[in-house]
Order: sequence, then structure tokens, then C-alpha cells
Amino acid sequence: RHFVTCAGQLKGKTVVITAGPTQERIDPVRYFTNHSSGKMGYAIAEAARLQGAKVVLISGPTQIEPPEGVEVIHVVSAKEMFEACMRYYEKADIVIKSAAVADYRPKDTFEQKRKKQPGTWFIEMERTTDILQTLGNQKVDQILVGFAAESEHVEEYAMKKLHSKNLDLIIANNILQEGAGFKGDTNIVTTFTKDGDKKEYPVLAKREVAQFIISDIITYMERHHR
Ligand code: CTP
Ligand code: CA
Repeated sequence: RHFVTCAGQLKGKTVVITAGPTQERIDPVRYFTNHSSGKMGYAIAEAARLQGAKVVLISGPTQIEPPEGVEVIHVVSAKEMFEACMRYYEKADIVIKSAAVADYRPKDTFEQKRKKQPGTWFIEMERTTDILQTLGNQKVDQILVGFAAESEHVEEYAMKKLHSKNLDLIIANNILQEGAGFKGDTNIVTTFTKDGDKKEYPVLAKREVAQFIISDIITYMERHHR
């Protein structure tokens, strides 16, 4: 397995990484979110930094310390993450979207705490913008890397996302697999590139997974003379 052992392979490159969940507000006390811890994205930020990149970490709410030497942009909602990504996209050489972005947000939000009422509360949800799709549609010469969180048909769904979102590389994981997914310290991933490369990794610490992901991106870029 190819592994980057020498440092500084991303010197001069700007890498934008998104991490963590988003929170979609209902009222001052309630929101929708998901189980993302941010660990995978923060580990990727650290691995990119170790290769000498300038790293911008656009992070949803997490409980973890950002790695040293990384510029952190804190965001809360999918809309804020979208706006931050758009601000940094032009300057980015590589964008890695590991955040678990909410697909839906409440259609109505309340300025005051909503008091409980008799009967059922129906909350209407509307779609958020697909950030990665937007970046893919507007891609100039950035290397665009996405994640696919799947619970079945992992390869098929990941390949679909790779092509429909105009990505260079996608990292797929089965979130139902023991040792993989949102919350833990380990992950089990398979990476697929646009030019047909596939790499399957065993269960590894997220920090190790991050180094392999960065290594796969570097290999891909070398192959494409970038
Ligand atoms: N993503 C994004 N903006 C969204 C939703 C997802 O940028 N509003 C990105 C994620 O950061 C990830 C990739 O798209 O890199 C795939 O996310 P995933 O949830 O696996 O797929 P979706 O395209 O949202 O489709 P679905 O949830 O239906 O599988
Ligand atoms: Ca989704």
C-alpha cells in the first residue's frame, strides 16, 4: 500500500476541509442535528497540515480541539457552512467535504420558545442546499473530495455520488459496520477515484485513515500532474 512518509508534499497548497455536524434551528432551545463527532474531518485537517498545506477547517459544532496551525471557521447551520465554503472555494486547491451536512431544515423557525400545546406537533422540513453538488457544478481546477455515508449498496451509491457531484475522489463508509462511522475513534473506508482507482482499508484509527486519504489524494494529483 502506498503511504506518504515524507513531509511537505502539500507545500504551497490550500486545503479546505469541512467537519462535524450542522445544527438546524427550530426555536431558541431546539434544533435538528446528527451523530457526527467531527473526528474524521479534524484528523484530515491535521494530516494535511503535516504535509505542509495551508489548512482552512470549516467546522460545525464539535467537542474537540482543532489541530495546531489550522485556520478554523466555526459555523452552525448548513446555510452558514455553504456560505463559508463559497467564500474559500476560489482560493482552494483541494476541498475535502467530511461534514455531515443536514439534508433538511425546519421550514419555519421561531424567535421565541415554542410553548407546548395539546396534540401532535408537525414540523415541516425543507431541503438545504447540497454544498458539494454546488462546488462540483462550479469546479474550475480544484480537487474535490467527498464522503459517502451509506448503510447499504455502499459502492453503487458512492460511485453515483462521485460522478453526479463531479468529484475527483470519494471516501465511502458503511455507517452500520462495527468500527466505522460517525461517533467512534476508528473508521473503515474505501476510496474511489474518478479515474477508476479503488482502495479498501481495514479498520483503522481515524488519524491513520486521514493519512491514507491524504496519501490517496496526493497519488491522484501526481497522476494528473497537479
Ligand atoms: N453534502 C453537502 N451538502 C449537503 C449534503 C451533503 O456538501 N447538503 C456532502 C457531504 O459533506 C458529503 C457528501 O455530500 O461529502 C455526501 O453526503 P451524504 O449524506 O453521504 O450524501 P447525500 O448526497 O446527502 O445523499 P443521501 O444523504 O441521500 O445519501
Ligand atoms: Ca445526506
